[in-house]
Amino acid sequence: MTDITNERKIEHIEIIRSDKDVDRRKYYFDEISLVHRALPELNLSAVDPSVGFLGKQLSFPLLISSMTGGDHDVISKINRNMAIAAEATGVAMGVGSQRVMFTNPAATSSFEIRNDAPNTVLLANLGAVQLNCGFDLEKCQSAVDTLQADGLCLHLNPLQEAVQPEGDVDFSGLSDKIGYIAEHLGRPVIVKEIGCGISAVDAELLVSRGIKYIDVAGSGGTSWSRIEHYRQASGDSPESAGIAFQDWGIPTPVALESMRPYLKKITVIGSGGIRNGIDMVKAVILGATVCGLASPFLEPAKKSPEDVIRLIRKLRHEFIMAMFLLGIKDFESLHNNSSLVLNNNFKNQRH
Ligand SMILES: Cc1cc2nc3c(=O)[nH]c(=O)nc-3n(C[C@H](O)[C@H](O)[C@H](O)COP(=O)(O)O)c2cc1C
Repeated sequence: MTDITNERKIEHIEIIRSDKDVDRRKYYFDEISLVHRALPELNLSAVDPSVGFLGKQLSFPLLISSMTGGDHDVISKINRNMAIAAEATGVAMGVGSQRVMFTNPAATSSFEIRNDAPNTVLLANLGAVQLNCGFDLEKCQSAVDTLQADGLCLHLNPLQEAVQPEGDVDFSGLSDKIGYIAEHLGRPVIVKEIGCGISAVDAELLVSRGIKYIDVAGSGGTSWSRIEHYRQASGDSPESAGIAFQDWGIPTPVALESMRPYLKKITVIGSGGIRNGIDMVKAVILGATVCGLASPFLEPAKKSPEDVIRLIRKLRHEFIMAMFLLGIKDFESLHNNSSLVLNNNFKNQRH
């Protein structure tokens, strides 16, 4: 049986491979300069980047962001390779939308990765808009149980849905439904975007509904508008708005800045266009507890756990080096520490 949701994931991966411009490579974090210390007064080997997240300890603040799952060998392999690598290196991992396992039960095994990652943080995933399309608490619980997850990501993707002729575009009353799930699910709920960012207005709404975890997933990296444009260009749908909106959204550093007033109430994840350990350090300085990268993991994950581990080690090395060069010994001293910012061009442009 052909299942549109299942086929879509393979199409997405192929588009990302064949069009390098799907990653918008805006390098927004380069607009921020940090205070280099010529006298860090530290031994590099004493730098400790570990951080607590969802009751577990990560070796450094990395999340392999939600990407995939489905009834395909290549997709199962991607999830397993990432899970093995996440466990080996002590980082967190999310899976892609689990909606597919409700339409195609054969997809379920691609999400059963707890045996490959018995200890580390694993995050389940569903589209929040599905709560307006018949999905309920029971399905959210089932998504969490399949993964034996430490939390559930509910993703917000109004642009991605609006650009598809077959998209689910009824986003009315969603914040109440998200709040209901967060209150009744036995696991933390993380509300995330997928590359357009979460604004202060949305953060206010989510906080008022009891949400305690927000992944800003801002613009600057993977563009879902551009991906969906390709899917439609190959079909017989009317010409899409996907290219016009490909850079729509809130740049990730700006989205992080706007979460600052809420940091006492929520844990923030920074993602969207983060591409190295220096970007990660800047995201933590702007208030992120964990940093997510998605598309950079796709090609290594198609190959082997070792390829994924190599990328994680590179990110960790860069992260530790940047901490050392800032004279910062541990995560707590880095987090939300604006005294480390020499110049933030985003901020300067706004004031
Ligand atoms: C291949 C791929 C599939 C994705 N699928 C999902 C998904 O199912 N659910 C979700 O919440 N986000 C999904 N995302 C979005 C990412 O989790 C992330 O928010 C976004 O790609 C920005 O990060 P990046 O610029 O590092 O890629 C996907 C990203 C990629 C690259």
